[in-house]
Amino acid sequence: MIERLFKKKDIATILSESAKDNGGLKRSLSAANLVTLGIGAIVGTGIFVITGQAAATYAGPALTISFLISALSCVMAGLCYAEFAAMIPVAGSVYSYSYTTMGEFLAWFIGWILILEYLFACSSVSVGWSGYMMSLLDGWGVHLPMHMITPTFDHTDSGWIWTGSIVNFPAVFIVVLVSALLVGGIKQSAWINNVIVVIKVGVILLFIGFGISFIDTNNWQPYIPENTGQFGEFGWSGILRGAGVVFYAFLGFDALSTAAQEAKNPQKDMPKGILISLLICAVLYVGVTAVLTGIINYKELDVPAPIALAIDSTGEGLAWLSPFIKLGAIAGLSSVILVMMLGQSRIYYAISKDGLLPKVFSKINVKNGVPRNATIFACAVTALFAGLFPLHVLSELVSIGTLMAFTIVCLSILILRKTQPSLNRPFKTPFVPFVPLLGAGICILQMLSLPWTTWSRLIIWTIFGVIIYFTYGIKHSKLNNPR
Ligand code: ALA
Repeated sequence: MIERLFKKKDIATILSESAKDNGGLKRSLSAANLVTLGIGAIVGTGIFVITGQAAATYAGPALTISFLISALSCVMAGLCYAEFAAMIPVAGSVYSYSYTTMGEFLAWFIGWILILEYLFACSSVSVGWSGYMMSLLDGWGVHLPMHMITPTFDHTDSGWIWTGSIVNFPAVFIVVLVSALLVGGIKQSAWINNVIVVIKVGVILLFIGFGISFIDTNNWQPYIPENTGQFGEFGWSGILRGAGVVFYAFLGFDALSTAAQEAKNPQKDMPKGILISLLICAVLYVGVTAVLTGIINYKELDVPAPIALAIDSTGEGLAWLSPFIKLGAIAGLSSVILVMMLGQSRIYYAISKDGLLPKVFSKINVKNGVPRNATIFACAVTALFAGLFPLHVLSELVSIGTLMAFTIVCLSILILRKTQPSLNRPFKTPFVPFVPLLGAGICILQMLSLPWTTWSRLIIWTIFGVIIYFTYGIKHSKLNNPR
């Protein structure tokens, strides 16, 4: 039994399986597509919403330093992802990497965690999209009834309650729309993502470019506001807490690795895609934060749309930019959902190919090479969560799932360098073991700082996963039941 649980997949077998017919998937993504997919997945709620709240409550103007610290920890995990994605360019990402390093049971466990990450990321961003869309429509005089635009349930201090709402229809709408795009083919999805990325990066550059002349350097004084006496409220501890909070803004580069099997030249292009998109986003984030906290005092930024507030504070000066910012945010959130949905469907596909989930999820549409059933299933589950539950319940599980995935990737690099030193590594993580160890260490520290309620929900999710593995996966695993 124990032997079955820890049986490892051979990397050569994975590569030869995918070499045969690429599992039916099509290799159509260029290096530029991968960079834009990365930016598409990364730039979203983090920069358009969380930046203001983090500056106002934790770090002040020094949130720029928080962004740099957070970027550094993501680059460490990104370097490890890049080594794996170039070495094992298959759809399963960390799930497939851990199948080769830690064996079947732990691979299933991490696959189950990845499902949690992408499912809750997609549904939480869809709820955010619904909020932004409604505020745009409100501005145009279109008002939808509350029972159609708010979640059905909420979790309050006294437990779960029914809010009186039917379902959050706009959130369900965007999930279905994005899924329909994905079912149409990855080439078409990548093209639409490119358009969206141009819009959102364009809007951010406009904000930085035109905002600079409205900066009042007095707003940057003091650059690091004095700590209030509480850990995490300004001062250096505030900068650190800020880094933990804006970590969310960098998530998404990891979802890119699930598209490795659809890249034209994954060995060269996956590392480029991951690292360049991270770098571009880090520069954009630091730029936006500097301009934002320069235009308006950080104490006023704790609002749902901080960039819009900064623009409004310039009076006539930047008023023309306001509708573009809302449009940029809506476009931005749409592409985050797109790439995370892509990631979610590819994880179902990869796990099902190994027999640990029903075979129907690895069926490929021969015409456009899309795992259609996996995509439709991802759509149904995401729409259900996005329609029924509020943002705060959905978003809290995203970070813990991601941090766990990052930790496993960093540690797996170390394991594989020891156990299979001679494997062909088209890209090598530099300064091993320091980079992976530091990467894993930072992620573990951040996980430990999360509240107990988040951990308890993770435990419940894990128990479900273990039940599914022992009642289904172990009996149908291809590795353990070759016939
Ligand atoms: N990085 C993504 C965002 O900020 C999750 O929306």
